[in-house]
Amino acid sequence: SKVRHFQWEVECMYSSPDCLEHVVIGINGQFPGPTIRAKAGDTIVVELTNKLHTEGVAIHWHGIRQRGTPWADGTASISQCAINPGETFAYRFKVDRSGTYFYHGHYGMQRSAGLYGFLIVDEHGKRELPFHYDGEFDLLLSDWWHQSVHEQQVGLFSKPFRWVGEPQGNSIVHWLQKFSNNASVSQCKFSGNEQCAPQILQVHPNKIYRLRIASTTALASLNLAIGDHKMMVVEADGNYVQPFEVDDLDIYSGESYSVLLRTNQNTSSNYWISVGVRGREPKTPQGLTILNYIPTPASELPTSPPPVTPRWNDYDHSKAFTKRILAAKGSLQPPRTHDRRIILLNTQNKINGFTRCSINNISLTLPSTPYLGSIKFGLNNAFDQKRPPDNYDNSYDIMKPPVNPNSTHGNGVYTINFNTTVDVILQNANALAENVSEIHPWHFHGHDFWVLGYGEGIFREEDEQKFNLENPPLRNTAVIFPYGWTALRFVADNPGVWAFHCHIEPHLHMGMGVVFAEGVRRVGEIPRAALACGITGSF
Ligand code: C2O
Ligand code: CU
Repeated sequence: SKVRHFQWEVECMYSSPDCLEHVVIGINGQFPGPTIRAKAGDTIVVELTNKLHTEGVAIHWHGIRQRGTPWADGTASISQCAINPGETFAYRFKVDRSGTYFYHGHYGMQRSAGLYGFLIVDEHGKRELPFHYDGEFDLLLSDWWHQSVHEQQVGLFSKPFRWVGEPQGNSIVHWLQKFSNNASVSQCKFSGNEQCAPQILQVHPNKIYRLRIASTTALASLNLAIGDHKMMVVEADGNYVQPFEVDDLDIYSGESYSVLLRTNQNTSSNYWISVGVRGREPKTPQGLTILNYIPTPASELPTSPPPVTPRWNDYDHSKAFTKRILAAKGSLQPPRTHDRRIILLNTQNKINGFTRCSINNISLTLPSTPYLGSIKFGLNNAFDQKRPPDNYDNSYDIMKPPVNPNSTHGNGVYTINFNTTVDVILQNANALAENVSEIHPWHFHGHDFWVLGYGEGIFREEDEQKFNLENPPLRNTAVIFPYGWTALRFVADNPGVWAFHCHIEPHLHMGMGVVFAEGVRRVGEIPRAALACGITGSF
């Protein structure tokens, strides 16, 4: 295994994600940021210099478990202090397992501002691969707004509340192809060399391609389809799954998949690849690009129409897809029982007239001293010492807007006993408006969890009987459907402090998250630079 060094400068720059020029946050003059490519077992060192003039920065390595290096998780206020303008911080961590991952800003809403890129870990040797393929394309999906992130943030913290709205116009997808430039898909008329021109997937007939697809969207749930072709799903969030064939793929923010594409169609034609919005009434046009069969000219338009994205609110379609994802044979099985169950009710609330999101009626506000330091050093004045609740009031009617919408801010921590097995039930509910319940993709740092099951309405004790303990998929992100619940199980075997939150960036910003701490006494020496702020700053 190798040590791979990178020197990055994070900087604002002009770019045209959807053909309109905007300020984005880039890395070394690139937007999206450079792809990190490594092999399982390698060590990655990123020396990151903050060249933003007026704000801090932190980068999270989404899907990397950071075993033994919880201070490198890149979550401002949780695992480290934001890196100040002009400062350099070295992220050093091991990528212990192959898979499709990505990285993104984890301070304020810097992910929405464009701070993201791919992190792909190849199998150590070809023998480890449970499937064969001839070529690869890497597609990082994102969404884009014309309003600046600062404007979005101010809106979310205003009275009356101003929601960010749906992503703008033809601006939805960045396609990244291995070793090549990136561009966003849109329906503008391209001459071919614009920054925002869609990446064309050029393929040879009768081959198998691996498409790595990851979603770093701020908001949008997406659906990807390739005209006249099926896809075989083989990987989800860095774990192999039992291969299954689909016509289209639902993907939520924070998820990643690998699919195998067989180029076995009429080779004298090209085909549309489409990406459309799911789960919210789409005001964003479908993103389109072309699957180009060599030697057909790339400029030749497909003869069959672009695939139609399933109706935005066809949740049965989404659920059917989600339930087909099962662990590959030979995957790690979950413990048969749990030591603790935490039920997390997701609601939309009001605090002093401001619209917030809450978990068990607490809206997360991050402290100024990172938890990793304050817990390790036993400081009891750095965050709420009151433990957040493991459950919610059982008279709460999840099908209706809250009777009492008021909640409170908080930053207490769920302390998990080391090496215990924890079940988390994510319970969805109605939002503030009647008949509204949204999708929330929940992402856990530092771990994979088993997804034991999904259900409708309120989770009840007897639902436990229906848990899949045989081949539940291991993932780091799982969705809760409107008015439903999702059951997860994990083993608290990774000393550190870990964020667990809705991956919709404005929702996290509105408080939709919790913090789990486990085995913090076992955490090794934390680099000073990670804690140079708040109370630990004067140590
Ligand atoms: Cu990819 Cu805490 O997020
Ligand atoms: Cu959410």
